[in-house]
Amino acid sequence: MSIKISVIGTGYLGATHATCMSSLGFEVVGVDVDPKKIESLSQGIIPFYEPRLEELLQTELKSGRLTFSTDFSAIKECDVHFICVGTPQIANGIAADRTYVFAALDAIAPVIKDGSLVVGKSTVPVGTAAELRDRLLKINPKTDLAWNPEFLREGFAVEDTLNPTRLVVGVANHLAEETLRKVYSKNLADQTPWIVADLPTSELVKVSANAFLATKISFINAMAEVCEAAGGDVTVLAKAIGYDPRIGSRFLQAGIGFGGGCLPKDIRAFMARAEELGAEQALEFLREIDSINLRARSRMIDLVRRDLSEDLRGKKIAVLGAAFKPDSDDVRDSPALDIAVQIQGAGAHVTVHDPKAIHNAEARFPALNYADTIETCVADAELVLHLTEWKVYREIDPLKLLGLVANPTIIDGRNALDRELWRAAGWQFRALGRSEN
Ligand code: UGA
Repeated sequence: MSIKISVIGTGYLGATHATCMSSLGFEVVGVDVDPKKIESLSQGIIPFYEPRLEELLQTELKSGRLTFSTDFSAIKECDVHFICVGTPQIANGIAADRTYVFAALDAIAPVIKDGSLVVGKSTVPVGTAAELRDRLLKINPKTDLAWNPEFLREGFAVEDTLNPTRLVVGVANHLAEETLRKVYSKNLADQTPWIVADLPTSELVKVSANAFLATKISFINAMAEVCEAAGGDVTVLAKAIGYDPRIGSRFLQAGIGFGGGCLPKDIRAFMARAEELGAEQALEFLREIDSINLRARSRMIDLVRRDLSEDLRGKKIAVLGAAFKPDSDDVRDSPALDIAVQIQGAGAHVTVHDPKAIHNAEARFPALNYADTIETCVADAELVLHLTEWKVYREIDPLKLLGLVANPTIIDGRNALDRELWRAAGWQFRALGRSEN
């Protein structure tokens, strides 16, 4: 018997998961309470930018295996139900808001058939899965709940879903593992590492992985601060330590730090949960990781002031990049936009360019100025800031921009541009964590 799958919540994670599960040959229905999302997905339009996903969505819709609905009764014949709703930071604190996961469970529990398995994929505070499982079993004791955290990166969502680095399944019952083995049989045949855990460990794997990644970035940004003070170069330092396989070279890109909808809120929610559990001391260091990260944004603004003047009023500044990282149109907690807004708040005239995120940036910060092309963005600028490392910015010919700006100075907030190339073209080039600022 073939497995039928439902995906509850069709945001970033859910839309990707539903599409990829369909591409593996399963019949999938994606359900969301937001009719706009469902309408858009049903028409083959992804409401955000993610390479490869829209093409795949259209193929899967045509195959007839993938459908979307706002009606929860559409899931009643499904065998496995993935919960993919968001857990944003609460408005008045640092904890995660679990409202949507509980609402999703409450909506599906009375509808799902006996023998079906609910699988949480959302990033949740440890202990949530067990609570949800108890709640589900009270409503229908002939069902079960497992946890299967996702590790997908924006910009690589399809690749990370179809070929994950590992699959982690938190189960309370071996039957749940057997069902998940069937769902992921292709990955198992491809030798993807399969890790079976209890429910709390599976929840912790996800948040500790993100905490580790955040720590790595803040570590190199702390080294950048020391390099600046000592006249060193953090890019050379990162390269040198990265050759040690125990350290590894990835996630050692110093700059304006991490943002997005995951790392910042996940480390904060992790601290909040540890405090509830009486283990706050264990995660005290994450407070420092968060501070180093936010300090990277202030250090960038210090560089701007050092270059132009303490008083930024009336200064024309061009900002290249608005997304929290390249290959994404996501501007949630974007370091680039945060810096742009702060500089504008200090009186500067800021114009922002981004290949994909302008629409989202404008909706969030309408007071900033936006440009459709790199050329119009930098026109008459007294200073150019490179804040999101899109490929198009690395491909800029600095000679071509020279005649457009009022003053050829660029600050590389991502340490991704070729300093020698820009200098040879006649630019003043500065960067975070490198001497000669
Ligand atoms: C992150 C994790 O990498 C995924 O494994 C995880 O599944 C996901 O969160 C999630 O929890 O859903 P993502 O938010 O897409 O993925 O972005 P990352 O690639 O981790 O980048 C996060 C931020 O760190 C970006 O602002 C990026 O510019 C910054 N970064 C990254 C650096 O400043 N330096 C680096 O060396 C690497």
